[in-house]
Amino acid sequence: MTRAQIIGVDRARPGSDIGAVTITRGGETIATLYQGDAYAIRPTLGFVDAEVIDPPYIVDTSGGGRFRKGRKVWDELRSQGLDQGFDLSIINPLLAGGVVCFCSNDQLAQLLPTMAGQFHRHVLLSWVKPAPPPVANKHYRPDREFYVHAWNRGFHPQGDLVDKARSITAHHSPALKKRFGHPTIKPPIVMEKIMRNIAGETVCDSFMGTGSTGVAAIQAGKRFIGIERDARWFKAAVTRISEAVDGLA
Ligand SMILES: C[S@@+](CC[C@H](N)C(=O)[O-])C[C@H]1O[C@@H](n2cnc3c(N)ncnc32)[C@H](O)[C@@H]1O
Repeated sequence: MTRAQIIGVDRARPGSDIGAVTITRGGETIATLYQGDAYAIRPTLGFVDAEVIDPPYIVDTSGGGRFRKGRKVWDELRSQGLDQGFDLSIINPLLAGGVVCFCSNDQLAQLLPTMAGQFHRHVLLSWVKPAPPPVANKHYRPDREFYVHAWNRGFHPQGDLVDKARSITAHHSPALKKRFGHPTIKPPIVMEKIMRNIAGETVCDSFMGTGSTGVAAIQAGKRFIGIERDARWFKAAVTRISEAVDGLA
């Protein structure tokens, strides 16, 4: 059997709204996806080789002046509560050999010492956008997003010299945005680089969105665990990750 099989949608905890989908291939579990709150579920899942997360950013979604009308993404971020940041306690070195965490500029001052303090080494990396919006708002242009990779001994960065570049240039994917509608889908090229850089076989994304981390993990031959609280994005992730499993040779 080579197709992805969804073998269960369980109400994992009676009385709660947590559900789980297991995606298997040839009887082997490739991905387990939970719908619910990451802060409640993640501590129960145990150790993975890598935690790769794209949590809510801290972004100022006010203002925009005469460009405001063209910045629909700000309204989407605000309406979905994706502009308020996240609780850094979810980053736990006892639960992951390495952590990759995307963040906005205004989260760096808190995130860097948190990760540096808990892991053996860390590095600041960036996704460079070749066609950023033509705004600066008395600041700098939004021509990159940051991510931090921190690791403990035994989980150091992988890949050849090209893979070990500290930045990757990629456009957003309009096709994914059109199909799934999520405001912050990460480009496959960026996620594929991250998969080449992390050590180990198991990956967890506690803020899964539409499953970009899961798709890249599965295509890289890794096992995936994901958590997403919003039913719409959870469904999109189940679809994308099932398709990725179906597409495995
Ligand atoms: C920045 S988006 C991730 C987008 C994803 N990287 C993608 O490419 O589709 C963050 C996601 O975290 C989810 N989220 C926020 N807080 C959460 C929580 N406490 N538990 C589970 N999911 C949460 C949001 O619904 C949102 O879809």
